[in-house]
Amino acid sequence: MLRHWCYKLEATLLIVVGFTGLLFLLQTNRPSNVHVSKEEREGPALILPITTEMSKPIMECQANKLAANVSGFAELPAHIKDFLWYKHCKEFPLLLDVPEKCGSPKISHEVFLLLAIKSSPGNYERREVIRKTWGQERMFAGMRIRRVFLVGEAANAQEAWKLSRLLKLESEENRDILQWAFQDSFFNLTLKQVLFHSWMEARCPGVRFIFNGDDDVFANTNNIVHYLLSVPGAGDEHLFVGQLITNVGPIREKWSKYYVPEQVTTSNSYPPYCGGGGLLMSGYTSRTIYKESLGIELFPIDDVYLGMCLQKAGLMPSSHMGIRTVGVRLPSSRVSSFDPCYYRELLLVHRFVPYEMLVMWNAIHQPDLVCGKKTEVYQSF
Ligand SMILES: *[C@@H]1O[C@H](CO)[C@@H](O)[C@H](O)[C@H]1NC(C)=O
Ligand SMILES: *[C@@H]1O[C@H](CO)[C@@H](O)[C@H](O)[C@H]1NC(C)=O
Repeated sequence: MLRHWCYKLEATLLIVVGFTGLLFLLQTNRPSNVHVSKEEREGPALILPITTEMSKPIMECQANKLAANVSGFAELPAHIKDFLWYKHCKEFPLLLDVPEKCGSPKISHEVFLLLAIKSSPGNYERREVIRKTWGQERMFAGMRIRRVFLVGEAANAQEAWKLSRLLKLESEENRDILQWAFQDSFFNLTLKQVLFHSWMEARCPGVRFIFNGDDDVFANTNNIVHYLLSVPGAGDEHLFVGQLITNVGPIREKWSKYYVPEQVTTSNSYPPYCGGGGLLMSGYTSRTIYKESLGIELFPIDDVYLGMCLQKAGLMPSSHMGIRTVGVRLPSSRVSSFDPCYYRELLLVHRFVPYEMLVMWNAIHQPDLVCGKKTEVYQSF
């Protein structure tokens, strides 16, 4: 009886002490004589970094000094040195999140197609037009489509401040921005991809299918939904389709955007992969890529890296004739490369400027658009 009473007293004391401590903390944290805006009081939407555990704090990642010890390091271009210094850094805080994008992790299987579009902070116009056209969040053929843009931070500090304000505004208005605290650059695209898969694990693990691509492609999301409805497994089986690239290896010419020196890889061949401009994968394959990525060092070319993850998992990427990331070859020079009939049959085409997306999205939806035989466009390659 006495012991029981002692426990009660102890518990009460603990609560009192804890509460006093909390009050003290709250008191000392409050700036006393400065004006506190509503936003500052409530804090930004979410500053917690996303890791698989969702709460582990992230230390700022330091450059690996030993990277400079490889022979010929001094002669490498700056962005490759940067890559070698920081390639071990795979966790970055999420600055802008959309936790409710898929409802909740539990009901995320209700999202049929998630459009995950790689964008740079400055590409505001592209994002705006995608929101209005092929990237609309909507129901189509009874299937739910959702959209996120994947961005990092601008390299230039002055620009980064302005652009982070812009992204915050866009996020408040559209709830479609995922921004991480790393430098948004070509050689950091793999990092962006890996962080996206880790976000998927935490926020949208049940999504059926994912469109993964750039913000300068034209994706016919209607056709994509029809196609995905025709593949077996409803996202629970392997699917990875795009423009298949095989039997290539690293470009060793210094002037190329894709230059990968021996110091990054000594291998002379890449596994089969799909052009990163735009591809489709199942939720199953996205989860597999995530698991494999934990054990594979970052590689600067993002689409090749996905090929490496698939290879390690024993899965194959495949080709879809309707996905044209290198451009459309036309059957005859009399046909305009902007003929809506071609785009009505395709799933995805690379390189559209914003106004073209608007014009094309509108054109393929014209009920009076008269086109020839359906199969013509596929046969012309
Ligand atoms: C750098 O490389 C050289 C030879 O490759 C080696 O002897 C030296 O210990 C290395 N330095 C460090 C700090 O690891
Ligand atoms: C990638 O981002 C990190 C973090 O911002 C940065 O330190 C590194 O230099 C970037 N790497 C490249 C190749 O841009």
